[in-house]
Amino acid sequence: MAVKPLRWGILGAGGIAQQFVRDVIRMEDHRVVAVGSRSQDKADAFADKFAIKNRHDSYEKLVNDPDIDAVYVATHHPMHMRDTLLALEAGKPVLCEKPFAMSYDEAKIMIDKAHEKNLLLMEAMWARYLPHMIRIREIIKSGILGEIHQVRADHGQWFEMDPEFRLFAPEFGGGALFDLGIYPISFASMVLGAPKHITARSTKAFTGVDGMTSVIMEYENGAHAILNMTNLVPTPNRAVIVGRNARIEIDRTFYNPTTWRVIDYQDRIIDGSDKKYFGHGLREEAKEFARAFRAGEKESPMLPHAEILSIMKTLTDIQGQIGLEFGEFAK
Ligand SMILES: NC(=O)c1ccc[n+]([C@@H]2O[C@H](COP(=O)([O-])OP(=O)(O)OC[C@H]3O[C@@H](n4cnc5c(N)ncnc54)[C@H](OP(=O)(O)O)[C@@H]3O)[C@@H](O)[C@H]2O)c1
Repeated sequence: MAVKPLRWGILGAGGIAQQFVRDVIRMEDHRVVAVGSRSQDKADAFADKFAIKNRHDSYEKLVNDPDIDAVYVATHHPMHMRDTLLALEAGKPVLCEKPFAMSYDEAKIMIDKAHEKNLLLMEAMWARYLPHMIRIREIIKSGILGEIHQVRADHGQWFEMDPEFRLFAPEFGGGALFDLGIYPISFASMVLGAPKHITARSTKAFTGVDGMTSVIMEYENGAHAILNMTNLVPTPNRAVIVGRNARIEIDRTFYNPTTWRVIDYQDRIIDGSDKKYFGHGLREEAKEFARAFRAGEKESPMLPHAEILSIMKTLTDIQGQIGLEFGEFAK
């Protein structure tokens, strides 16, 4: 029997919102039926581009649109808590862009509100829901790697040195840690869980936010995660999980759909995939959201609320160690 399409409302008509819509409309059981922007012109332009019926000149009108089943929050990270609470208060489940929030405390408020309202709330950490990550979790669970001793991952991108660009702008929660570092940090959490001890070092970018941050995380069993994040230079963006019996190497770009291999301790390739993936990959988080929504679940088992909180605790700890301060956020 055909399922009823999930009807999305897009909150914030920016760059990632466009990519999300472009990928989600590839799926038959999803519809993008509304967009909300602070400006009617922007909402209209976005809606025209994707043939979206309802276009609103405020986020309030969007979340109260009776035609939508769920809200995708695609504003800057300092606005994630405000906009998620707005949607939850209006009785709408939420898929919120990464990083989920600006602190552990904000994330806790958002999750508590979702529980109070009995609504689904997920972080749009899209890498977590990609097919290769699902397969890698199965491989880890199978025990074939043996005891895992190391995770290594980096996320570095080249950007124009524009002080107004969100990656450098303190008022938008810029810097490597919150925008890029969330990928390797979430990845290490997926493999090794919560760290016992964290050591972080950082170099500032020209605007005062972190330009490059390196982190060593130590775990109860003695394992290490060695992570690097930077908005100054384009690093390989690869990830490795090293177990006593075998390792997994995930090729560039590890948090996109990509190729990977399992290599045993004698350097023989024993598993992997070089399969091509069509489209961006953002639709995978929407697919998991729809599955959880239809099943009446309030969080995704792929990235549960407890883990979102643990990851936010890690970000907050690193932020404190590197003295990353933002001042006043844009509203
Ligand atoms: N998953 C991914 O791969 C990925 C990639 C890029 C970004 N992201 C995340 O997505 C979020 C948005 O990033 P983006 O690249 O889409 O940014 P963007 O293009 O600048 O869009 C952000 C949107 O936020 C809204 N907004 C609300 N208050 C604002 C203010 N005071 N000033 C400016 N904009 C304001 C604007 O929407 P209206 O003008 O329509 O109201 C704007 O279009 C960030 O949290 C980022 O980390 C995720």
